[in-house]
Amino acid sequence: MADAIESPGAGRLAGKSCVVTGAASGIGRAVAERFAREGARVVATDLDAEGLRRLADELPRAVSTVVGDVSREDDARRMITAAVERHGRIDVLVANAGVLPLSEITEADAEEWDRVMAVDGRGMFLTCKYAIEAMAGPGGAGGAIVCLSSISGEAGQRGQAVYGPAKFVASGLTKHLAVEWADRGIRVNAVAPGTITTERVRRLQDEPGGPDYLTAIEKLHPMGRLGTPAEVAAAVLFLASDDASFITGAVLPVDGGYLAQ
Ligand SMILES: NC(=O)c1ccc[n+]([C@@H]2O[C@H](COP(=O)([O-])OP(=O)(O)OC[C@H]3O[C@@H](n4cnc5c(N)ncnc54)[C@H](O)[C@@H]3O)[C@@H](O)[C@H]2O)c1
Repeated sequence: MADAIESPGAGRLAGKSCVVTGAASGIGRAVAERFAREGARVVATDLDAEGLRRLADELPRAVSTVVGDVSREDDARRMITAAVERHGRIDVLVANAGVLPLSEITEADAEEWDRVMAVDGRGMFLTCKYAIEAMAGPGGAGGAIVCLSSISGEAGQRGQAVYGPAKFVASGLTKHLAVEWADRGIRVNAVAPGTITTERVRRLQDEPGGPDYLTAIEKLHPMGRLGTPAEVAAAVLFLASDDASFITGAVLPVDGGYLAQ
């Protein structure tokens, strides 16, 4: 079915050069697949070389890959320069790579805080920094950045003492960069998903206590269900595309009504 998914030259991101971090699984993979279907040239990046290889095998004309760690400065820079070298410039960055631990503050320690902030905070900062340098520099044509925040980056929750603050960094970085670059042709927005049925969340129903836990989480969302990676990818696509040309600094909930409560 790869040929049906790839349609170069057509679509809402036709001809755009896009980098998606954390693209080997979950939401990042769904974004890379949707962007490919919308005509983008995607540089998919992740720590997970095998997952990236599977994605590129499915979409060989639209997707190329860079294996690396967003929290490492050289790797983050390499993810962006790969797009510039392969496709002439970078038009879109989706800063998605993240780790999602659940812990109360008494269970967490300083090492966990540093580990999560290194990926979800520093990694997002570094990839945004190098993307903006390329979008605003010689040969750059402006662009759009979409950061992955979360309902946990907009409101307090139980068991998110480390992850939640890291997602507030995502929402905060989005707003500050949006204002800083608004008059220089770069839009910066975020999506704030509720709980999404990624592989990890789907596996919960096979674990002891998992089905009850999942039902309880579903009930927290007014629509009474979890979201899908494809539903998040659709919102990311909107913010990355020219349809959102007068939108910057927004954090768009994709949460079945969670944040409206
Ligand atoms: N799943 C949800 O319910 C949910 C809800 C709200 C927000 N989010 C956000 O969406 C994003 C993606 O989450 P997901 O649920 O798809 O997670 P996931 O674990 O399915 O995918 C995350 C990907 O990021 C990669 N990654 C992790 N650390 C990395 C690093 N240092 N460098 C490069 N790649 C790295 C992983 O290998 C993985 O492929 C995260 O930023 C997360 O905070 C997820």
